[in-house]
Amino acid sequence: MNKFFVASLALALLACSGPADQSASGLVFDSSKGVAGSVTMPDGKVVNYTAFTNLYYVSNVEDSTYQYLNLFIPEGADEKTAIFMPNYVGGYMAAEPRMVDSRDASGRALAEGYVVAIPGARGRNSVVYDAQGNAVYTGRAPKGLLDLKAAIRYLRHFDEQIPGDTEKIITNGTSAGGAMSSLLGSTGNCKDYEDMLMQMGAAAERDDIFAAVCFCPIIDLDHADAAYEWLYGCTNNVSRPVSEEQQKVSEELAAQYPEYLNSLNLKKPDGSALTADNYLDYIASLIMESAQEAKDAGASIPENIGFSISSLPGFTAPVNGGVDSGSEFQIPAAKHDIPFVQGEYITGLDMQKYLNYVVSTIALKNPPAFDSQGVAGAGPSGENEEFGDASGSSVNFTEYSLRKSSGDPQAKVDEAILENVYLLNPMNFLSGDKSTVAEHWYIRHGARDRDTAFSVPINLATKLSNEGKDVNFKLPWNRPHSGDYSLNELFDWIAEITE
Ligand code: DHB
Repeated sequence: MNKFFVASLALALLACSGPADQSASGLVFDSSKGVAGSVTMPDGKVVNYTAFTNLYYVSNVEDSTYQYLNLFIPEGADEKTAIFMPNYVGGYMAAEPRMVDSRDASGRALAEGYVVAIPGARGRNSVVYDAQGNAVYTGRAPKGLLDLKAAIRYLRHFDEQIPGDTEKIITNGTSAGGAMSSLLGSTGNCKDYEDMLMQMGAAAERDDIFAAVCFCPIIDLDHADAAYEWLYGCTNNVSRPVSEEQQKVSEELAAQYPEYLNSLNLKKPDGSALTADNYLDYIASLIMESAQEAKDAGASIPENIGFSISSLPGFTAPVNGGVDSGSEFQIPAAKHDIPFVQGEYITGLDMQKYLNYVVSTIALKNPPAFDSQGVAGAGPSGENEEFGDASGSSVNFTEYSLRKSSGDPQAKVDEAILENVYLLNPMNFLSGDKSTVAEHWYIRHGARDRDTAFSVPINLATKLSNEGKDVNFKLPWNRPHSGDYSLNELFDWIAEITE
């Protein structure tokens, strides 16, 4: 793209207040190209839709395998219908656009009557070959995010032709895809991405969204190693075997974290300060809340993983005019056929025991968990590749790991890498006026998900809530690293925020 074209697009963006100018964008949407289809939901319900596929959302397509979206319009959708936009990014790898799937949130969204847009995105492993046959890595940070932002701009660009309300776009993703969803929610219209989007030929439109659904987002990568060791260091050589060198790394990283936690100036829901000193108790309280909810729904919560449970069994009111059991201590089991039940209330949690339990269900990552390349004998992680460049390099992206791996105590991470780390961390965009942050957030991180420390999603949820956003956050009981679960709960929430 020549400089003049870039400049005129930038001017068009500045002046953009009326309908989008399709002819200048080079983007295409042909409303006559819809194809009828249907999906059968698990309950047998058949949902009919019109699909528009292979909609390229940038005019300078670099990687035709990924840079388009598929669009599904259910019967009855109109201009007021919210748009559900899931991504299938995992492990920071490329994701092809898919068709709606009855087994996940995309199919459920369609069945609930929402317009569904499924964009592909380049990722750390996406490659094209140049004229000489050399591999060019097309999707290193922040390219995957730019693609998804371009997809949102495309929907706005063709707002008049496509059913659905572009002021009600709800993104959804899991893990690295949850990170993408959190970035879409936090970086709306941010100028830092503008030049890159213009160079890609993204539409000159807004890219803020209404709501972000983030399942186990793997975010805050520049602090995630410290967070991990601060939380899980207590399991070293108890349930995580570590070498002497790894132990040192673990301790050094853990020591960095309290200062960072305190720098966030977080407030708990009761308004009191959430600091490094009370943070572990706060995590315990969230896990207890989650276990209590599961217990109330009938789950049995084992006490040997750290919980204290009140010794009184639950009071059972007489039913059908039956005889009162009299006292909680004398439930006449023969009369009522009520088994002696565990006490009703969870009253405490020993975090050391609980973390050992989490680790026993799936082995921890070794320290450092994310920026691992060249440190304590470790090879590159997905994140090391994500911050590499078009040559396919994989790089350290924190000063700590770079200094360890290079042996140079003065080593500094390249500015260009730091910029990409910055652009890929939603925590940088939640306060101030750098961007338009989504009003509504649904954030989940399983109560036994060890892919990143609990504090990482808790910081995101707490900061957003402190900024006045509507945040629905839980550490769902007994969930490992996963997404698109409890869809009844999710879609009740979506119905509430969109009505
Ligand atoms: C994912 C999981 C990880 O543990 C990680 O470090 C990055 C991404 C994922 O599942 O997307």
